[in-house]
Amino acid sequence: MVVQIAWVITGAGHFLEETFDVMNQLVKNNKVTVTTYLSSAGEQVVKMYGFWSKLEQISPGSHLQEVFTENKEDPSFSHAGRFILDLYNALVVSPASGNTVAKIVYGIADTLATNAVAQAQKGDVPVYVVPTDLEEGFVETTLPYRIDRRECKLCNPCSVVDVCSYSAVRILDGVPKIDSVLCQGCGLCVASCPFGAVKYGEKKRLRIRSVDVQNVEKLRLMNNLTVLEHPQQIETIIKKL
Ligand SMILES: Cc1cc2nc3c(=O)[nH]c(=O)nc-3n(C[C@H](O)[C@H](O)[C@H](O)COP(=O)(O)O)c2cc1C
Repeated sequence: MVVQIAWVITGAGHFLEETFDVMNQLVKNNKVTVTTYLSSAGEQVVKMYGFWSKLEQISPGSHLQEVFTENKEDPSFSHAGRFILDLYNALVVSPASGNTVAKIVYGIADTLATNAVAQAQKGDVPVYVVPTDLEEGFVETTLPYRIDRRECKLCNPCSVVDVCSYSAVRILDGVPKIDSVLCQGCGLCVASCPFGAVKYGEKKRLRIRSVDVQNVEKLRLMNNLTVLEHPQQIETIIKKL
């Protein structure tokens, strides 16, 4: 039997790589299909961190293996209506941003991600959520591609602009900027700058806000919804379905 999963990715960099590792593992043996639902910010971070081509392999586009993006949806997110049609065995939300968790907890369904959760709950599809902000303290996050103004020498022409085949680097007011929506994360720009001004993969420590932790606690109380601590736990759960 093929297990049919719907997977929401929100605009979170934390747990994104681990999420893709699990998605890859699951689809590898052809016993799991994944339909991906991306919030607007989710689409942006997937591109920024260079995971778009991986996503196209995980959800290659045939029926129940599509990638649905918020930006191309109609205002009522009709593809989220699938959850009341008994098409999916589970809905996974990983990684789940603090923003999406807050909205789910308060019943808000105004994005593709939160609407998918609302419809899954109405259609009795089990929901598994991996929040990024689980407990108070600090989290280490990896920054996406960026140009460090302190190291940029404002060359004209700029090799970073020239090397980008997606036209994602543009000069605005004399300064090169990476357009994170156009960036596909290929990484060619990093080596192209002789001054090392393009950065990728820098680690930063962020404080987790107590309001986000409190929202996760409220999430744990919701019916038909399970909070998971790490994307790896999804694999075990899906294998048992
Ligand atoms: C590079 C990058 C990484 C981010 N990582 C996180 C994260 O790990 N957790 C989080 O809650 N928000 C993160 N954000 C902020 C969210 O993208 C932002 O709150 C957005 O509104 C979430 O929208 P969504 O919940 O509809 O996807 C990140 C933003 C950027 C630009």
